[in-house]
Amino acid sequence: MNAGIIGMGRFVPETVVTNADLEKRMDTTDEWIRTRTGIEERRIAGDEIDTSDMAFEAAKKAIEDSGIKPEEIDLILVATVTPDQSFPSVSCMIQDRLGAKNAAAMDISAACSGFMYGLATAKQFIMTETYKYVLVVGVEKLSKITDWNDRNTAVLFGDGAGAAIVGPVSEGRGILAFELGADGSGGKHLYFDEFIQMNGREVFKFAVRQMGEASVRVIEKAGLSKDDVDFLIPHQANIRIMESSRQRLNLPEEKMSKTVNRFGNTSAASIPISLVEEIQNGKVKDDDVVVMVGFGGGLTWGSVIMKWGR
Ligand code: UT7
Repeated sequence: MNAGIIGMGRFVPETVVTNADLEKRMDTTDEWIRTRTGIEERRIAGDEIDTSDMAFEAAKKAIEDSGIKPEEIDLILVATVTPDQSFPSVSCMIQDRLGAKNAAAMDISAACSGFMYGLATAKQFIMTETYKYVLVVGVEKLSKITDWNDRNTAVLFGDGAGAAIVGPVSEGRGILAFELGADGSGGKHLYFDEFIQMNGREVFKFAVRQMGEASVRVIEKAGLSKDDVDFLIPHQANIRIMESSRQRLNLPEEKMSKTVNRFGNTSAASIPISLVEEIQNGKVKDDDVVVMVGFGGGLTWGSVIMKWGR
């Protein structure tokens, strides 16, 4: 027995904000955003949709996809830095709405690495046979903590949610290894103080280094080599950072997920949103070896290597 993903779902708000829309609001250009980040458009949630609403929608789909009942969920982990309020947690809010009345619930604060932290935590509870099914959600409404007058940050982010049911899967499949890490000394480069504050160049350098190293190390931990990897799902922060991870693993372009152009950086939601995309378009198939890797505020990083399938 191993722990793996047995169902997934995602939700993104309907409203599309293009680079051309941002050109009208601030001193930026479509050309700059596209060439420096790879982003063409992002989804933004209106006032009527908060973080818990997006988490709920994604979680509902993940539960349906898994075939389990809400009452069978033992634990809900919601990775977010943009909860509706500091408490109750988003996980408690969706526990009630989903009817997951037997589930414990807590939020995880690891910024863009949050979904990796969630998957790794879920695996521990399942492997120790403490719990059978864990719902892991990555969700963010970054638009509410974005300074829409700051072109350094406002062009980067988007809103959305992705969710997974983690449970027992057959021998050989599931989460093969993970790595989590943090460097609190870099916290000053990316933090929240009324709005998101960021030293882009420092975060960029950290991201290139850690995304590459965390990917390589998680492959080694699983006892595999780069040649065994079928697909890479990097945190969708910036196409240039993602490309450096891909090149580190010697993977061709078509073996890396790229949704940053359509959704921007959705922080904790970006990896599960991308994973759903690649499952739906048939690029991630049973028995594929998939590497997921993220980095973010903290500073934090995390990588997970999985053999796909139930
Ligand atoms: O999930 C983690 C979240 N954070 C990240 O992933 C951020 C990581 N960092 C990055 O992605 C990149 O550093 C950025 C995309 C944020 C910036 O790209 P860069 O190549 O590092 O640009 P830069 O900060 O060195 O700025 C270059 C120029 C500056 O002008 P000067 O000082 O050279 O005259 C900026 O003022 O680009 C200017 N600039 C812009 N111009 C047009 C910065 N933002 C914009 C903008 N539109 N939106």
